[in-house]
Amino acid sequence: MKLLIDDAHLDAIKKIYEIYPVAGVTTNPTILSKVGGNPFDTLSRIRDFIGEDADLHVQAVSRRAEQIAEEARHIVEILGANTFVKIPAVPEGFKAMKLLVDTSEILITATAIYTPMQAFIAGQCGASFAAPYVNRIDNMGFDGIKVAQEIQQIFSVNRMETEVIAASFKNSQQVLELCKCGVGAATVSPEIFSALVKNSAIDSAVEDFIGDFESFAGAGKTMIDFN
Ligand code: G3P
Repeated sequence: MKLLIDDAHLDAIKKIYEIYPVAGVTTNPTILSKVGGNPFDTLSRIRDFIGEDADLHVQAVSRRAEQIAEEARHIVEILGANTFVKIPAVPEGFKAMKLLVDTSEILITATAIYTPMQAFIAGQCGASFAAPYVNRIDNMGFDGIKVAQEIQQIFSVNRMETEVIAASFKNSQQVLELCKCGVGAATVSPEIFSALVKNSAIDSAVEDFIGDFESFAGAGKTMIDFN
Protein backbone atom coordinates (compact mmCIF):
# COMPACT_ATOMS: atom_id res chain seq x y z
CA MET A 1 0.00 0.00 0.00
CA LYS A 2 1.46 3.34 -1.09
CA LEU A 3 1.20 6.26 1.32
CA LEU A 4 0.51 9.74 -0.01
CA ILE A 5 0.11 13.12 1.69
CA ASP A 6 -3.30 14.76 1.44
CA ASP A 7 -2.23 18.40 1.73
CA ALA A 8 -0.85 21.31 -0.30
CA HIS A 9 1.27 23.18 2.25
CA LEU A 10 4.84 22.71 1.03
CA ASP A 11 6.39 23.08 4.50
CA ALA A 12 4.16 20.33 5.89
CA ILE A 13 4.84 18.11 2.86
CA LYS A 14 8.62 18.60 3.25
CA LYS A 15 8.51 17.64 6.94
CA ILE A 16 6.67 14.39 6.23
CA TYR A 17 8.89 13.54 3.23
CA GLU A 18 12.00 13.94 5.41
CA ILE A 19 10.89 11.14 7.73
CA TYR A 20 8.45 8.81 6.01
CA PRO A 21 8.30 6.77 2.79
CA VAL A 22 5.95 8.86 0.68
CA ALA A 23 4.79 8.04 -2.86
CA GLY A 24 3.27 11.41 -3.68
CA VAL A 25 0.75 14.10 -2.86
CA THR A 26 -3.00 14.39 -3.31
CA THR A 27 -4.96 17.62 -3.32
CA ASN A 28 -8.54 18.70 -3.77
CA PRO A 29 -10.15 22.14 -4.19
CA THR A 30 -10.71 22.47 -0.43
CA ILE A 31 -7.06 21.66 0.27
CA LEU A 32 -5.93 24.20 -2.35
CA SER A 33 -8.23 26.84 -0.85
CA LYS A 34 -6.25 26.59 2.39
CA VAL A 35 -3.13 27.80 0.55
CA GLY A 36 -4.90 30.26 -1.79
CA GLY A 37 -3.37 32.16 -4.72
CA ASN A 38 -2.78 30.68 -8.18
CA PRO A 39 -3.33 26.92 -7.76
CA PHE A 40 -0.63 26.15 -10.34
CA ASP A 41 1.96 28.10 -8.31
CA THR A 42 1.16 25.84 -5.35
CA LEU A 43 1.04 22.66 -7.43
CA SER A 44 4.20 23.45 -9.42
CA ARG A 45 6.13 23.99 -6.20
CA ILE A 46 4.88 20.63 -4.95
CA ARG A 47 5.79 18.96 -8.28
CA ASP A 48 9.30 20.49 -8.19
CA PHE A 49 9.82 19.20 -4.66
CA ILE A 50 8.44 15.66 -5.04
CA GLY A 51 10.01 15.16 -8.48
CA GLU A 52 8.60 14.00 -11.80
CA ASP A 53 8.37 10.32 -10.79
CA ALA A 54 6.11 10.88 -7.78
CA ASP A 55 2.33 10.81 -8.03
CA LEU A 56 0.49 14.12 -7.86
CA HIS A 57 -3.32 14.09 -7.81
CA VAL A 58 -5.19 17.24 -8.82
CA GLN A 59 -8.94 17.64 -9.10
CA ALA A 60 -10.85 19.07 -12.07
CA VAL A 61 -13.77 21.29 -11.04
CA SER A 62 -15.78 21.72 -14.26
CA ARG A 63 -19.36 20.45 -14.27
CA ARG A 64 -19.70 19.20 -17.87
CA ALA A 65 -17.79 16.26 -19.34
CA GLU A 66 -16.19 18.12 -22.25
CA GLN A 67 -14.93 20.88 -19.93
CA ILE A 68 -13.69 18.33 -17.38
CA ALA A 69 -11.70 16.66 -20.18
CA GLU A 70 -10.29 20.00 -21.33
CA GLU A 71 -9.38 20.91 -17.74
CA ALA A 72 -7.70 17.50 -17.30
CA ARG A 73 -5.50 18.06 -20.36
CA HIS A 74 -4.58 21.54 -19.11
CA ILE A 75 -3.63 20.18 -15.65
CA VAL A 76 -1.38 17.47 -17.11
CA GLU A 77 0.16 19.85 -19.64
CA ILE A 78 1.35 22.06 -16.79
CA LEU A 79 2.20 19.47 -14.13
CA GLY A 80 3.59 16.73 -16.35
CA ALA A 81 3.76 12.94 -16.22
CA ASN A 82 2.52 11.05 -13.16
CA THR A 83 -0.16 13.65 -12.60
CA PHE A 84 -3.49 11.98 -11.90
CA VAL A 85 -6.56 14.05 -12.62
CA LYS A 86 -9.21 13.57 -9.98
CA ILE A 87 -12.66 13.43 -11.50
CA PRO A 88 -15.82 13.01 -9.40
CA ALA A 89 -17.51 9.64 -9.91
CA VAL A 90 -20.81 11.09 -11.14
CA PRO A 91 -22.45 10.74 -14.59
CA GLU A 92 -20.68 13.75 -16.21
CA GLY A 93 -17.45 12.55 -14.62
CA PHE A 94 -17.86 9.05 -16.09
CA LYS A 95 -18.45 10.61 -19.50
CA ALA A 96 -15.28 12.70 -19.10
CA MET A 97 -13.29 9.61 -18.05
CA LYS A 98 -14.41 7.76 -21.18
CA LEU A 99 -13.56 10.75 -23.38
CA LEU A 100 -10.09 10.99 -21.86
CA VAL A 101 -9.35 7.29 -21.98
CA ASP A 102 -10.43 7.13 -25.64
CA THR A 103 -8.40 10.15 -26.71
CA SER A 104 -5.39 10.51 -24.42
CA GLU A 105 -2.99 8.88 -21.98
CA ILE A 106 -4.24 10.96 -19.07
CA LEU A 107 -4.28 9.15 -15.74
CA ILE A 108 -7.53 9.37 -13.80
CA THR A 109 -8.41 9.10 -10.15
CA ALA A 110 -12.13 8.76 -9.61
CA THR A 111 -13.01 10.78 -6.53
CA ALA A 112 -15.91 11.62 -4.20
CA ILE A 113 -16.63 7.91 -3.84
CA TYR A 114 -19.17 6.96 -1.21
CA THR A 115 -20.47 3.71 -2.74
CA PRO A 116 -18.87 0.61 -4.29
CA MET A 117 -20.95 1.00 -7.47
CA GLN A 118 -19.41 4.42 -8.16
CA ALA A 119 -15.97 2.79 -7.99
CA PHE A 120 -16.98 -0.11 -10.23
CA ILE A 121 -18.36 2.19 -12.93
CA ALA A 122 -15.32 4.48 -12.70
CA GLY A 123 -13.03 1.48 -13.06
CA GLN A 124 -14.94 0.33 -16.12
CA CYS A 125 -14.55 3.84 -17.53
CA GLY A 126 -10.77 3.49 -17.25
CA ALA A 127 -9.87 5.19 -13.96
CA SER A 128 -6.49 4.12 -12.54
CA PHE A 129 -7.56 4.80 -8.95
CA ALA A 130 -10.84 5.08 -7.08
CA ALA A 131 -10.91 7.14 -3.90
CA PRO A 132 -13.46 6.11 -1.26
CA TYR A 133 -13.86 8.69 1.54
CA VAL A 134 -13.52 6.47 4.59
CA ASN A 135 -14.27 8.96 7.36
CA ARG A 136 -17.04 10.77 5.50
CA ILE A 137 -18.74 7.41 4.88
CA ASP A 138 -18.43 6.63 8.62
CA ASN A 139 -20.01 9.98 9.41
CA MET A 140 -23.02 9.06 7.25
CA GLY A 141 -23.62 6.04 9.49
CA PHE A 142 -22.00 3.45 7.22
CA ASP A 143 -18.67 1.63 7.50
CA GLY A 144 -15.99 3.40 5.45
CA ILE A 145 -13.39 0.68 5.89
CA LYS A 146 -15.88 -1.95 4.74
CA VAL A 147 -16.79 0.10 1.67
CA ALA A 148 -13.09 0.45 0.75
CA GLN A 149 -12.60 -3.31 1.25
CA GLU A 150 -15.64 -4.10 -0.88
CA ILE A 151 -14.29 -1.89 -3.66
CA GLN A 152 -10.95 -3.67 -3.46
CA GLN A 153 -12.77 -7.02 -3.74
CA ILE A 154 -14.89 -5.83 -6.68
CA PHE A 155 -11.75 -4.81 -8.58
CA SER A 156 -10.12 -8.11 -7.77
CA VAL A 157 -12.99 -10.49 -8.70
CA ASN A 158 -13.68 -8.55 -11.89
CA ARG A 159 -9.98 -8.62 -12.78
CA MET A 160 -9.88 -4.84 -13.10
CA GLU A 161 -6.61 -2.91 -12.99
CA THR A 162 -8.11 -0.01 -11.05
CA GLU A 163 -6.72 0.38 -7.54
CA VAL A 164 -8.16 1.80 -4.36
CA ILE A 165 -6.64 5.03 -3.07
CA ALA A 166 -8.44 5.39 0.24
CA ALA A 167 -8.94 8.97 1.45
CA SER A 168 -10.55 10.93 4.28
CA PHE A 169 -9.12 9.45 7.47
CA LYS A 170 -9.62 10.57 11.04
CA ASN A 171 -7.16 8.23 12.74
CA SER A 172 -4.23 5.89 12.17
CA GLN A 173 -6.28 2.76 13.01
CA GLN A 174 -8.37 3.30 9.86
CA VAL A 175 -5.15 3.42 7.82
CA LEU A 176 -3.91 0.22 9.46
CA GLU A 177 -7.15 -1.64 8.67
CA LEU A 178 -6.69 -0.87 4.97
CA CYS A 179 -2.98 -1.69 5.13
CA LYS A 180 -3.94 -5.18 6.36
CA CYS A 181 -6.06 -5.86 3.30
CA GLY A 182 -3.53 -4.41 0.87
CA VAL A 183 -5.40 -1.64 -0.89
CA GLY A 184 -3.28 0.15 -3.50
CA ALA A 185 -2.81 3.41 -1.65
CA ALA A 186 -3.96 5.60 1.21
CA THR A 187 -3.70 9.35 1.29
CA VAL A 188 -3.50 10.93 4.71
CA SER A 189 -3.10 14.39 6.21
CA PRO A 190 0.27 15.39 7.73
CA GLU A 191 -1.36 15.15 11.19
CA ILE A 192 -2.46 11.54 10.63
CA PHE A 193 0.93 10.73 9.06
CA SER A 194 2.67 11.85 12.25
CA ALA A 195 0.22 9.79 14.30
CA LEU A 196 0.87 6.55 12.38
CA VAL A 197 3.71 5.68 14.74
CA LYS A 198 3.04 7.57 17.94
CA ASN A 199 3.08 5.73 21.22
CA SER A 200 4.56 6.72 24.57
CA ALA A 201 5.63 3.08 25.26
CA ILE A 202 7.84 3.16 22.14
CA ASP A 203 9.40 6.52 23.11
CA SER A 204 9.98 5.29 26.64
CA ALA A 205 11.68 2.08 25.43
CA VAL A 206 14.04 4.06 23.21
CA GLU A 207 14.86 6.51 26.05
CA ASP A 208 15.55 3.60 28.42
CA PHE A 209 18.08 2.11 25.97
CA ILE A 210 19.87 5.44 25.62
CA GLY A 211 19.87 5.90 29.40
CA ASP A 212 21.32 2.43 29.98
CA PHE A 213 24.10 3.08 27.45
CA GLU A 214 24.99 6.43 29.02
CA SER A 215 24.98 4.84 32.50
CA PHE A 216 28.22 2.99 31.69
CA ALA A 217 29.60 4.98 28.74
CA GLY A 218 28.98 8.51 29.98
CA ALA A 219 26.42 11.22 29.20
CA GLY A 220 26.07 12.02 25.50
CA LYS A 221 28.29 9.11 24.43
CA THR A 222 27.33 6.87 21.50
CA MET A 223 28.96 3.91 19.71
CA ILE A 224 30.91 6.46 17.63
CA ASP A 225 32.98 7.26 20.72
CA PHE A 226 34.34 3.68 20.89
CA ASN A 227 36.54 1.58 18.57
O1 G3P B 1 -9.39 14.45 -1.13
C1 G3P B 1 -10.53 13.89 -0.61
C2 G3P B 1 -10.43 13.48 0.82
O2 G3P B 1 -9.12 13.39 1.21
C3 G3P B 1 -11.25 14.32 1.73
O3 G3P B 1 -10.85 14.18 3.03
O4 G3P B 1 -10.73 14.87 5.38
O5 G3P B 1 -11.95 16.31 3.74
O6 G3P B 1 -12.90 14.12 4.44
P1 G3P B 1 -11.66 14.91 4.20
